[in-house]
Amino acid sequence: MKVEIIKALDLKTRTDLLVLPVCEDRVMQGGPVLQLDKLLDGTLKQLVEEEDFKGKPGQGLTFHTMGKAGALRVALLGLGPEEKVAAERFRRLAGRAAEVARKYRVKSLTLACPVPAAPGLEVKQAVGAMAEGLSLGLYRFDKYKKEPEGRPPYTGPQKVSVIGFGADGRPYTDSGALKAAVERAEALAGGVKIARDLVNEIPEVMTPEELAKKAGELASATPGLKLRVLDSKAMARWKMNAALAVARGSDRKPCFIELGYAPRGAGRGPGLFLVGKGVTFDSGGLNIKPGEHMATMKMDMAGAAAVIAAITVVARMKLPVRVTALVAAVENLPGGRAYKPDDVVAALDGTTIEVGNTDAEGRVTLADSLGWAVKHKAGRIVDLATLTGSCVVGLGPHTAGALGNDEPWLDQVCRAAGEAGEKVALLPLDEDMEDDIKSEVADVKNVGATRFGGAITGALFLQKFVKDTPWVHLDIAGPAWADKKRDYAPVGGTGFGVRLLVHLVERLAQERQA
Ligand code: BES
Ligand code: MN
Ligand code: ZN
Repeated sequence: MKVEIIKALDLKTRTDLLVLPVCEDRVMQGGPVLQLDKLLDGTLKQLVEEEDFKGKPGQGLTFHTMGKAGALRVALLGLGPEEKVAAERFRRLAGRAAEVARKYRVKSLTLACPVPAAPGLEVKQAVGAMAEGLSLGLYRFDKYKKEPEGRPPYTGPQKVSVIGFGADGRPYTDSGALKAAVERAEALAGGVKIARDLVNEIPEVMTPEELAKKAGELASATPGLKLRVLDSKAMARWKMNAALAVARGSDRKPCFIELGYAPRGAGRGPGLFLVGKGVTFDSGGLNIKPGEHMATMKMDMAGAAAVIAAITVVARMKLPVRVTALVAAVENLPGGRAYKPDDVVAALDGTTIEVGNTDAEGRVTLADSLGWAVKHKAGRIVDLATLTGSCVVGLGPHTAGALGNDEPWLDQVCRAAGEAGEKVALLPLDEDMEDDIKSEVADVKNVGATRFGGAITGALFLQKFVKDTPWVHLDIAGPAWADKKRDYAPVGGTGFGVRLLVHLVERLAQERQA
């Protein structure tokens, strides 16, 4: 996809699809819309009235111009009320533009990006958000699907022309800034697509070793990104007996993946560690899941996918921050050697874990990854894990739960999420619930004594392994996977967390410069 910034919108210029965002109840007020109405002999105004198109968010009106304008088709898409327009509105709108583009298999597309005087929204941000939404909305995982009539799958327009308009209605002239915004958007979207592909791949293919192989391919293609993989023998030498226990029921060997990015000038001080849950399939183990809960459990490595993709983007963007991504990749199956309820396993840091339920396997694997991060002097940690159904029950499918042991660090992560357009909500790391995970036979137990606050007991368990390191845990069990199509994500892995993490590293880079 070739993106070009244009400086004026000539409605006579040939394009397959012209996308015009419009604010609610102001459809016939924008300059380009009025010009277009003129070209169409006033029929546009009529059409808008007849179709009752108001410019509400989610509303769209696509029509053929019958050769009266340079654009073959025009899509008027609703931005919602002017005073509420924010970057996310543009992202979602562009996601819908992607659907229109797919429907007509357009080869060339023009995106107009009129930015009303919304509080704190700059034209370059809006343009970046649109580029991001378009690219993400075009994503499909179709490698196992035949197209009808053997035609090649549609991958998006070859050429996209972008123009930004300021609140005064004039074209935005700093095309360098817009170009940079589009490039950054494409880097972010590229990362999200990497994560989606990793999650959507079938579990028979996406085994722990395959995940390591994919991480290796990304590392070889990305200057500055280094891969280290521990096989199960090396994991045993490092005493990662918790992750190894989870993996034992499966014939697929586990592995420990470390991706390192240490740019020159970022210093050798304590770095940022991104830890992802990498259960390539979660059957529940001996505490086997009922069928309706087991389906989609290929997504149980979405945290791993997010950290692998995010560090790749960070390296591609050459951000001046030292980052390490860690994944203990395992498959959780019931087998002849499977770990059992009542077992006690010792994690890398020596903490012993009583297995109360083999389906609470994520935290057992994370115990070793977090232990590794602490042992390697992590300055700050963020972990992303599809950890609990409880979090989805509490927060719904769109929002990740955020828990941590350090207020300023939690605050940074939540702000980064907000900028990225990814939803997180704070949950309390309630130490009054510690009793819940006390064990009679070991230092800690992997499940709570009650069914209440499962996302919290999960985080309290993880806290044991981070010691005093500033740490945030993001329970992404809900937003990692879309059961229904979303504005800029089809059904399947969403790539949640990638944009949030890159924004977070950008914040750290700014902090260093300040
Ligand atoms: N991978 C699941 C959590 C999950 C559930 C992710 C739904 C995405 C959607 C996790 O390993 C799990 O099974 N958690 C259990 C924990 C329980 C046994 C304490 C759960 O949430 O039921
Ligand atoms: Mn489980
Ligand atoms: Zn799991």
